[in-house]
Amino acid sequence: MNPRHFLSLFDLEPSELKRIVRRGVELKQLQGQRQEHQTCAGYLLGMIFELSSTRTRVAFEAGMYHLGGASIFLSPVDTQLGRGEPIEDTARVLSRMVDIVMIRAKKHETISRFAKYSSVPVINGMSDTLHPCQLLADIQTFVEHRGSIQGKRVAFVGDGYNMCNSYIEAAVQFDFELRVATPPDHAPQVPDRASGHVALAADPTEAVTDADLVVTDVWSSMGHEDDRERINAFDGYQVTSELLDNANNDCIFLHCLPAHRGEEVDELVLDDPRSVVWDEAGNRLHSQKALLEFLLTADQ
Ligand code: CP
Repeated sequence: MNPRHFLSLFDLEPSELKRIVRRGVELKQLQGQRQEHQTCAGYLLGMIFELSSTRTRVAFEAGMYHLGGASIFLSPVDTQLGRGEPIEDTARVLSRMVDIVMIRAKKHETISRFAKYSSVPVINGMSDTLHPCQLLADIQTFVEHRGSIQGKRVAFVGDGYNMCNSYIEAAVQFDFELRVATPPDHAPQVPDRASGHVALAADPTEAVTDADLVVTDVWSSMGHEDDRERINAFDGYQVTSELLDNANNDCIFLHCLPAHRGEEVDELVLDDPRSVVWDEAGNRLHSQKALLEFLLTADQ
């Protein structure tokens, strides 16, 4: 049987995604009560990181430990990947040794090629195109603070990059309205299947007005932090307290972190009462545990 992969939110059915979010909430409660939940005992996760990480790596490592399994961290520097062994060969070797693989790659194509040759489930731990694991945590955070996200209005302000693309997929899968405000040259491609859920707004205020959730992400992806010209293109797209005032009174603010204070988000917003970014970061642990459990044990 072909393994189930999680490279995109479109790889799972909406009902399966909602089940994972619900389970993330449950696992968080079990963890809070220090109740054992070793549902993945004996399973091994291999993690390939071409780029740095705090949240994704710690959430997967801690998560496998809580679930009774174990994990191996693999960086290209320490493996034959860094010396040119093809990703296809690595996939065939690793999937004979571990039960599930997570990859954070500079190019989405690397993850897709790995998945094609892997006989075990593969998780996208972030690529230049998508960040689906972050969306599981974001939806869990909204659900915990405000209930179901179905039918709600979400505003994404900033760069139409991997987080924005995953929000577009989430709008379809979780059935909410997404308004995206980006500079014209940084607008995302909206797939046909998402067109009924996504509107590209002319300006941030228009996008944020009456929103239930406001989201942003850094203006410079990893490896491009010093590209000032790129950053200058986002003038006027910073999320400030004043911008949030246009949203609904009970609006919440999310940012996947790490944040660049003074760029995509004003110094004060992360600590604004409307910000739940620390809960969001913590939920990476619980939602990724729910995802691991689903991919490793759902068919049993
Ligand atoms: N949000 C996120 O993916 O964080 P890390 O880069 O620290 O994993």
